[in-house]
Amino acid sequence: MGVFEDSVGTFLAPVKEFLEEDAVSEVLINGPNEVFVERKGLLERTSAKFMDEQALQAAVRNIAQFVGRKIDDEHPILDARLPDGSRVAAVLPPCSRKGTTVSIRKFSKGNPTFVDLLNRGSISKDGARFLDVCIYLAKNIIISGGTGSGKTTLLNVLGSRIPNTQRLLIIEDSSELKIHTEHVVFFETKHADESGRGQVSIRDLIKSALRLRPDRIVVGEVRGPEALDLITAMNTGHGGSMGTTHANTPYDGLVRLETLAMMGDTQVPIGAIRRQIASAIHLVVQIKRMHDGTRKVTHITEVIPEIDDSGRYQIQDIFKFVQRGKTADGKIVGEFIPTGYVPSFMDEIELNRLPFPKEKFTPPTWYTQMLQSHP
Ligand SMILES: Nc1ncnc2c1ncn2[C@@H]1O[C@H](COP(=O)(O)OP(=O)(O)OP(=O)(O)O)[C@@H](O)[C@H]1O
Ligand SMILES: [Mg+2]
Repeated sequence: MGVFEDSVGTFLAPVKEFLEEDAVSEVLINGPNEVFVERKGLLERTSAKFMDEQALQAAVRNIAQFVGRKIDDEHPILDARLPDGSRVAAVLPPCSRKGTTVSIRKFSKGNPTFVDLLNRGSISKDGARFLDVCIYLAKNIIISGGTGSGKTTLLNVLGSRIPNTQRLLIIEDSSELKIHTEHVVFFETKHADESGRGQVSIRDLIKSALRLRPDRIVVGEVRGPEALDLITAMNTGHGGSMGTTHANTPYDGLVRLETLAMMGDTQVPIGAIRRQIASAIHLVVQIKRMHDGTRKVTHITEVIPEIDDSGRYQIQDIFKFVQRGKTADGKIVGEFIPTGYVPSFMDEIELNRLPFPKEKFTPPTWYTQMLQSHP
């Protein structure tokens, strides 16, 4: 926590111990008298307090100044990334009614890998192997999930599996991804200056990226009209591109992209956008923060490149998480299993001699029996 220690640290003294504790992933301050921390995915109240509202506001102003941003009555909202990668979001009163609210998401150390996801029970071995096959085959993938569900972490893992022979361009709002392949270039958006000039958006960056000979494009978080640019890029020869979006089911992930794509000044009719989305996106990987604090991939879903007669996307789950119970101490017990649906690109898997035989899509017997007894 070098950065916190230096200048910012003195202001954040009341929560410094949590910033330094490796087991804490997030620090949440709800006014000067209420501090929660997240350990292993679960929130706990602490006894830490700031001296008063003024001291807390001073801390936030100092962080803002440190990263060259402003937070005051005129701009009471801060969303900033510290040089060490930690993310700080803050809202001042009166917008925040309990006093200044701050969340500090600490930057996780090291590069997450499939092994980490397996060890945390976030995916099965076959699920991970299948995703690896899809990355190799340059499928376009959207990672969908709620806030803090582990989307960025999963994108880091998937991105790092992109073959080294390919040129990868990464576009982010504020730099967070740590994808290390042999040939990767990072881009970051730029805020407008005080006179409102000089803004560079994700849209601008995707457009320039297309002129920079990318093989694949990764957009850290799709949350605006750039959805349309990403979809267009995916449809025009940049297979193997990826992004994350905020939604609770794979189907909603597609609808979310559609809504975002319509946000721009585009005149493209909705029917056309739907068809473009259906043909651009091959897979949606859904991730979820479970009640027990774990993060689990709950679906790997194929998107069929056609819209049905009533204008709906056609999707098929290839793998999904099925909960089978709960331990006495509240841990979710379940399995990530194939559903029995064989992906439409099975022939590509076989042609490329990838080690993922068709039998791996056969669901376990308990699942077929369960479906027979409760169809
Ligand atoms: N598979 C996982 N198992 C356990 N914890 C995880 C897992 N993936 C991520 N986390 C933890 O969850 C928190 C959120 O992770 P991450 O930033 O990847 O989520 P996100 O969905 O991108 O969040 P946001 O919506 O804020 O962008 C981090 O503290 C991270 O360490
Ligand atoms: Mg994220």
